[in-house]
Amino acid sequence: MIISSTTDYRAAAQKRLPPFLFHYIDGGAYAEKTLARNVDDLTDVALRQRVLKDMSQLDTSIELFGEKLSLPVALSPVGLTGMYARRGEVQAAMAADQKGIPFTLSTVSVCPIEEVAPRLSRPMWFQLYVLKDRGFMKNALERAQAAGVSTLVFTVDMPVPGARYRDAHSGMSGPNAAMRRYLQAVTHPHWAMDVGLMGRPHTLGNISTYLGKNVSLEDYMGYLGANFDPSISWSDLEWIRDFWKGPMVIKGILDPEDARDAVRFGADGIIVSNHGGRQLDGALSSARALPAIADAVKGQIKILADSGIRNGLDIVRMLALGADCTMIGRAFIYALAAEGGAGVSNLLSLLEKEMRVAMTLTSVKNVSEITGDLLVR
Ligand code: FNR
Ligand code: LAC
Repeated sequence: MIISSTTDYRAAAQKRLPPFLFHYIDGGAYAEKTLARNVDDLTDVALRQRVLKDMSQLDTSIELFGEKLSLPVALSPVGLTGMYARRGEVQAAMAADQKGIPFTLSTVSVCPIEEVAPRLSRPMWFQLYVLKDRGFMKNALERAQAAGVSTLVFTVDMPVPGARYRDAHSGMSGPNAAMRRYLQAVTHPHWAMDVGLMGRPHTLGNISTYLGKNVSLEDYMGYLGANFDPSISWSDLEWIRDFWKGPMVIKGILDPEDARDAVRFGADGIIVSNHGGRQLDGALSSARALPAIADAVKGQIKILADSGIRNGLDIVRMLALGADCTMIGRAFIYALAAEGGAGVSNLLSLLEKEMRVAMTLTSVKNVSEITGDLLVR
């Protein structure tokens, strides 16, 4: 199979993975309109082609929260990454580390903080969800601090899980889910051996470490629904702000008013995101939400953005729309599922190459020159 893009990795991932996992990754909420628009709206962003400006020397690096990034990209937190490849969080994190960009460990990862952070040369980022058991949150923050985590990503667009119709049909949830998943594993022997057998334990590593016993993945979506806390509000974040010494970034901002609240709250950054179209279907794509948010808060707070980025040109587009840095979810997950850490490394090289082409053809020599001036208005 020839791999030249995220689309190819998606196809390879679909072959490799049992359908319940592929559709969990690939799917979104309800009619999946926002999922589609994330990609379509970004693809529609037209940049001004500029020529003859000696583009032989390009610099794709940025500085963010005191860290040097070789690309304006970080890996988004993705739950259950250790189910897509053997100890997948470790593999993806090491690939990001080698490239010189941050990896963000999800609260609901398979590998716990303590398994991933020590393998890396640079500090990891950690994503926190609000669980009803606030003892877990304090425990997770203490452990993250002890493991040298630099940036805390606080995700606020999933107080309840979105309605994902594919999950019920695929065996991720729904009737006889365990039996259906077993049959899918048997018919995907490469995955069954690599992850099903050799990738154990399959548990929510961070939460299991806290509880001192394994949290089963038998009813994962049910677990999220039962344990996430919809009562969360800005005032609940105060103690975290006080407790957490490093940068704190709020993930899941899609409205300028919420962006202003994040500035008032004292966040160091926001991530403009609709959770990859997995939560409120019909919500604006990140590409469409971003310019108004940048108008409201650019310069006062760092603006990161994800949802819909599939190639290096998309990264430049998202920066031109107002982001200081981007993040990628499915793109790296498809590559991880297809080829493990080597796939993630290759994907990041592809993104860099494509970004360099985009910068050359728009005549920008470094990331700070990627501004709204590049947009065809
Ligand atoms: C996610 N996302 C996510 N976000 C988060 O804050 N914590 C999490 O545990 C997860 N889990 C998760 C699982 C899967 C399978 C996907 C696809 C996504 C959202 C993720 O961080 C990111 O916002 C989106 O994936 C970005 O959109 P793209 O790049 O996938 O289009
Ligand atoms: C999801 C959660 C885990 O999107 O963030 O499935």
